[in-house]
Amino acid sequence: MKLISAKEAASKWDISQRRVIALCSEGRIPGAQIVGNSWVIPSSSKKPEDARTKGSKNKASEAKPFLKWAGGKGQLLSEISKHYPFGNNVHIKKYAEPFVGGGAVLFDILNKHDVDEVYISDINAELINTYKTIRDNPDELIDILKNMEEEYLPTDADGRKKFYLEKRARFNDLKRNGVHDAEAAALMIFLNRTCFNGLYRVNRSGDYNVPMGAYKNPQICNEDLLLADSKKLQNANIVCGDYKESTSFIDENTFVYFDPPYRPLTKTASFTSYTEHLFDDNKQLELAKYVQDLDNKGALIVISNSDPKNTDENDNFFDDAYSNQNIRRVAANRMINSNSEARGKINELLITNF
Ligand SMILES: C[S@@+](CC[C@H](N)C(=O)[O-])C[C@H]1O[C@@H](n2cnc3c(N)ncnc32)[C@H](O)[C@@H]1O
Repeated sequence: MKLISAKEAASKWDISQRRVIALCSEGRIPGAQIVGNSWVIPSSSKKPEDARTKGSKNKASEAKPFLKWAGGKGQLLSEISKHYPFGNNVHIKKYAEPFVGGGAVLFDILNKHDVDEVYISDINAELINTYKTIRDNPDELIDILKNMEEEYLPTDADGRKKFYLEKRARFNDLKRNGVHDAEAAALMIFLNRTCFNGLYRVNRSGDYNVPMGAYKNPQICNEDLLLADSKKLQNANIVCGDYKESTSFIDENTFVYFDPPYRPLTKTASFTSYTEHLFDDNKQLELAKYVQDLDNKGALIVISNSDPKNTDENDNFFDDAYSNQNIRRVAANRMINSNSEARGKINELLITNF
């Protein structure tokens, strides 16, 4: 019988060496044995199925966003979902969400509708690595998060702060070196859960720089949620890149939801930087042109954005850019900016081509 090392098995199965060793110790790989002080595995062994995604342990039936995300659409789901084009003799086979962020609409659709193929993308490489890890390697992710939770929660304020800053530095180290693995994904979730307001903000050199938040008992590892999300993402194409890369995926059987970074409502409300890339008015207009091209292909499209008329009723920016589409204004619970008195209900745009 030919034997291979844990390292070779890790590369063959596309999981970490640490995970292979854990599977060996749990007795999940028949024929695995310790030689010297390392595990060796029969070369014919198959990658064990992910025991945690197989039902009984997975109590959460609902997939939901695993991160807090600026511009998250959780609050607007009841409005947006009125415009899902499913049913009514329309056969939607594919769903695309090229600015996926936290994925509030994505998970809502995956819970409610069967689609054959899914495409999600985002320009934020660390976010996309987290989606891919949840899809492909939830076990290892959960192990790392549990360890972080066990270390972070019982410590006092100083201990927590030290731990947070160490993890933030480690995240930035991996980010600078383009390392996209389960550890980087776990750090993304850990920082999101424990930082100030769940923000994702980077400085000019691309370093994540959000300070620690003041949550007493943040949930760092929501195992059930991660497993429910993992299940729903099994057939998803997950792409790190510009929204325009979705072009070859989208056809006349595709429903596409675009939720680009908001156009700022006031000059001072300049947009929280999601990544090093800004999304200015020219980019908004390029997107409108892209939407027109997909409209010509026959795709069914919904786009959301901020309504400039909240602060300037003569501002027709989106009315002009999307003059061929249907523009609706829906009430949203969002602040215009933190200093403004105009809090509470403001309008948000929902634009459709059907
Ligand atoms: C408003 S957020 C999406 C929020 C999401 N709908 C939710 O519920 O959490 C916009 C997202 O677009 C991403 N983004 C910015 N520029 C992009 C580009 N050129 N292509 C793809 N994604 C981009 C940002 O990283 C951010 O995650």
